[in-house]
Amino acid sequence: MATTVATTTEAPPVLRLDGVSHTYIGQRRRTTVLKNIDYSFRRGTFYTVLGPSGSGKTTLLSLASGLDAPTRGTISFNGEDLTKLGLGRYRNKHAATIFQHYNLLTYMTALQNVTTAMEITGVKPGSGGRRARALELLEQVGLDRHMATRNVMKLSGGQQQRVAITRALACDVDILFADEPTGNLDEDTAQGIIDTFRELAHEQDKCVVVVTHSQRLAAQSDRVLTLRKGKLTE
Ligand SMILES: Nc1ncnc2c1ncn2[C@@H]1O[C@H](COP(=O)(O)OP(=O)(O)OP(=O)(O)O)[C@@H](O)[C@H]1O
Ligand SMILES: [Mg+2]
Repeated sequence: MATTVATTTEAPPVLRLDGVSHTYIGQRRRTTVLKNIDYSFRRGTFYTVLGPSGSGKTTLLSLASGLDAPTRGTISFNGEDLTKLGLGRYRNKHAATIFQHYNLLTYMTALQNVTTAMEITGVKPGSGGRRARALELLEQVGLDRHMATRNVMKLSGGQQQRVAITRALACDVDILFADEPTGNLDEDTAQGIIDTFRELAHEQDKCVVVVTHSQRLAAQSDRVLTLRKGKLTE
């Protein structure tokens, strides 16, 4: 009689945190922001992370997006330790981040910010080329050609935020991180961005992780995580 062996064919989580702790060491004291966090992030899922100001949300994103390495523990992408894969390679090829303070290249136009990111990630431009694709994406977030070709420092806060969002969307990566991406946007524009995040997760099988204070945004995500006292809970 043939015996059946239970096998797990499930793919490894796209991103895994194992025993992740992080401590900032200042001149007079150490601040432990994250304490022994274990969590698996999967594809096809839109996560939001809530938590009081100063609870470590941006710190968590900077570790998960490969900008910094945790003091303790490991972070892995598709089962491979980020430090082995290389943080730079991970950031260039697999993860895109929309920063809380945008981090746009201030000497460039909106369009150049987007096309430069596409070049760095090596994204295939499609038949029309990178410029056409970037203009199309900027148009989708409500920035017309006139806005797109203006220096980003001459755009409003909400417009700059939309450039930062477009820059991340233009790079065809596996994981998208965003830190308060709708903080400066009116309700309709914010809803458009939320719809895009849902679509990326559900139709393009991406993993989307968004830090927010907005209950409205959290209510539309698949999983709501809370960061409090260094612990991440669902
Ligand atoms: N580079 C740093 N050096 C020292 N301490 C830091 C550093 N960055 C952040 N911290 C401290 O770590 C804690 C968490 O900061 P973090 O920016 O991750 O919080 P946050 O949850 O994103 O807050 P907010 O909602 O206000 O953006 C805070 O107490 C902060 O002062
Ligand atoms: Mg923050």
